[in-house]
Amino acid sequence: MTTHRTIGVLGAGEVGQAVADKAVHHGHEVLIGNRRGPETLAALVGRLGPNARAVTAEDAAKPELVFLSVPFSAVPELTDLTDWSGKIVVDATNQFATANPYQGRYDVGDLTGSEWVARHLPGARVVKALNTLYGAFIAAEPRHAEGRQVAFYTGDDADAKAAVADLLDQFGFAALDLGGLREGGRLMQLDGPLSAKHLLLQDVD
Ligand SMILES: NC(=O)c1ccc[n+]([C@@H]2O[C@H](COP(=O)([O-])OP(=O)(O)OC[C@H]3O[C@@H](n4cnc5c(N)ncnc54)[C@H](OP(=O)(O)O)[C@@H]3O)[C@@H](O)[C@H]2O)c1
Repeated sequence: MTTHRTIGVLGAGEVGQAVADKAVHHGHEVLIGNRRGPETLAALVGRLGPNARAVTAEDAAKPELVFLSVPFSAVPELTDLTDWSGKIVVDATNQFATANPYQGRYDVGDLTGSEWVARHLPGARVVKALNTLYGAFIAAEPRHAEGRQVAFYTGDDADAKAAVADLLDQFGFAALDLGGLREGGRLMQLDGPLSAKHLLLQDVD
C-alpha cells in the first residue's frame, strides 16, 4: 500500500524541481524551499499544482522526510535550520566545491560526501540517492520498454533506507541498495565508479 507523505524539498533547482514533480505526481504533499524565499517559487508551485507549497527553507526542513537538493557547499548553512534528529534526509548532493561544477571538488578528507553531510545535520538518518543521475534522468519517466532506470541508494539506517527505497520505487525507479554511507557512498559519490552512470534494469521473472 502506498504511504502518502509530506515531503520537504530543500533546494528548488533542477534536482529539487524534478523530485517535487515526481512526488506530487504520486500523491505526496510537497513543501519546497530555496535560499531566496517562497515568493520566488510562485510559478513553480503553480506548475506543480495544489499538492505543492512554496515555503521558507525552515519549513521545507520540517517534514520527517526531506530531500536535500542544494549545492554541497551550502550544506553547512543547514545545520541550524531545524532539529534534524531522526529525520530521513535523502542526500542528492555531489561534492563540488561551489555551485559551479567547473570549480573543483570540496575537500572532505577521509569521509565520503554523505558522511560529511550527515555530520552537518546532527541526528539525521541520511540516505544517499539520485546524485549519480543527471538531472534530466531524475526528471524523466524512469520506466522504459527496455527496463527501469536504476537509482542506487546507501545509508546506515535500515528503516530510513526502506522508506527511501519505497519512494524511489513509487517514482518508477529500480532502487538498488549499495550498503552503508562509507562503502556504498564511495561507489556513488562524485568520481566514484557509479557517478553519472545511467543504467536500466530489466526484471526477469
Ligand atoms: N543538476 C544535476 O544534473 C544534478 C544531478 C544529480 C545531483 N545534483 C546535485 O544536486 C544538488 C542540486 O543540484 P541542482 O542542479 O538542482 O542545483 P541548482 O539548480 O543550482 O539549485 C540549487 C538550489 O539550492 C538552493 N539553495 C542554495 N543554498 C540554499 C540554502 N542555504 N538553503 C536553501 N536552499 C538553498 C537554491 O536556491 P536559490 O535559487 O534561491 O539560490 C536552488 O534552489 C547539488 O548538490 C548537485 O551537485 C545535480
